[in-house]
Amino acid sequence: MNLIFLGPPGAGKGTQARILAERSGYRQLSTGDILRANVLAGTPLGREAKPIMESGGLVPDDLIIRMIAAEFEGGGPFIFDGFPRTVTQAQALDNLLVRKRRSAVAVLFRVDLSVLIDRLTGRWTHLASGRVYHERYAPPKRPGIDDVTGEPLVQRPDDKEETIRTRLAVYEEQTAPLIAYYDDPADPRLVSVDALGPIDTVTRELVALIDGNGDERRAAG
Ligand code: AP5
Repeated sequence: MNLIFLGPPGAGKGTQARILAERSGYRQLSTGDILRANVLAGTPLGREAKPIMESGGLVPDDLIIRMIAAEFEGGGPFIFDGFPRTVTQAQALDNLLVRKRRSAVAVLFRVDLSVLIDRLTGRWTHLASGRVYHERYAPPKRPGIDDVTGEPLVQRPDDKEETIRTRLAVYEEQTAPLIAYYDDPADPRLVSVDALGPIDTVTRELVALIDGNGDERRAAG
């Protein structure tokens, strides 16, 4: 069973996807991380995406769908982190899943919008790996330094308060409709976790949820 992590910026999708990928053999597929790697490497995709990401908008659907289709060939099960973000992307993912005879459940991270600014303005990122920390909730061993590589951490350019507000508005307008898409009474594929608690509590809830789907996951891959 593949998992789609759905929720606003700062809900903890990347944090939990990384933990589950380490513990449970899932492959994390983060469109944000792939785009940032392209920005860092200065590829044509990165040059096109950079100003859009820095303004808090969404990169065009066709670029994202091509990117995911290429990654999807690599085997799973996947945790889709930050994808799909529009109904067009969700339909494209459904087509890929049908073609590969795979299935997916969407996991909505339920979170109070009031905590998101605090989570994102306090976030520090190791850009090369995508590892994230928080200055109070998940601090690195040494402030400003990645635990694994010893390299400096940075604050993402789109984690400025003004840009976060744009990203939240874009989420409400373009991504929140996916809640109804996956909660379609004819084919319900939505579950949710309480993402307001501490990181390890959210992980426990996710693991329980995945274990509930365990047999199906092993069968479907
Ligand atoms: P992306 O990188 O996907 O960003 P996002 O969706 O805005 O999500 P974030 O990474 O900001 O939040 P998160 O939920 O992963 O939270 P995290 O775990 O880091 O996308 C960036 C940009 O790329 C987009 O704006 C867009 O331009 C483009 N893009 C990407 N995908 C696209 C797509 N499919 N289509 C079009 N454009 C696309 O946690 C946040 C902080 O909180 C961390 O510091 C963490 O330590 C802390 N934290 C986590 N959980 C907890 C907890 N339970 N308690 C306390 N603190 C916590």
